[in-house]
Amino acid sequence: MKVGFFQFFPLLGKKEENVERAISSLRGARADLLVLPELFSTGYLFGSEEETKRSAEFIPDGPTFAKLAHAAAREKVNLVYGIAEKEGEKLFNSSVLVTPKGDFSVYRKLHLFNLEKLWFSPGDKELEVFDVDGVKVGMMICFDWIFPETARILALNGADIICHPSNLVLPHLCQKAMITRCVENGTFAITANRTGAEKKEELELSFTGMSQVVDPKGDVLAKADESSEGVWTVDIEPTMARSKKVTPRNHLLEDRRTEFYQKGDLC
Ligand code: ACM
Repeated sequence: MKVGFFQFFPLLGKKEENVERAISSLRGARADLLVLPELFSTGYLFGSEEETKRSAEFIPDGPTFAKLAHAAAREKVNLVYGIAEKEGEKLFNSSVLVTPKGDFSVYRKLHLFNLEKLWFSPGDKELEVFDVDGVKVGMMICFDWIFPETARILALNGADIICHPSNLVLPHLCQKAMITRCVENGTFAITANRTGAEKKEELELSFTGMSQVVDPKGDVLAKADESSEGVWTVDIEPTMARSKKVTPRNHLLEDRRTEFYQKGDLC
């Protein structure tokens, strides 16, 4: 299976331009699964809930879904991308998995980062895993990385590959942590981050790039630098994520002592 990510510098508020740039970069990528950054079509630093609402779209009845579904069909690739989603009066920071046949699944970010709490509602969907040609694919978004429960629940639900659209701003902590997430859960992870910076009034955010594909042993199979744009791909053997044995007597999921993990809400 060939998997990878698209890393680039989306321009704030330039939705058509960002979507066109992503789609033309995917042309001829010959991959089975590609992940795009969080909020890839709009940029990140919304000034207000009103601005977020203007950028947000219904799924699947929005123009970005239609364009990405068309690209997925044309390139015969499963795409995962981050988008501002509208449902009724609510706005979510979401990611979408769309297959070449147009089947799709939506995940809504559970752990909102900083100002996102002013612009979005927290996710209200379970951490589901989607079957892509026999490979189990789960999604989480950016800051979800700092809550190890997110990747753990995806692994318990059977995820072989965790797709992780991101707009990372903390200096490379996540890229390091995702190696641990893969080792502790025995999964692959594809973190698709963005590059560049955005400024709104006094606030400036710099995004850290360094998107990566990590395997269940913690090896980084593909890695972008901080500022380059493009598609990176690598061949993986997804069944590597099915063996959770660390030693003949240790299993990553079955050896958990859940009866001792009952403090507070932790399970
Ligand atoms: C983030 O969750 N976009 C930092």
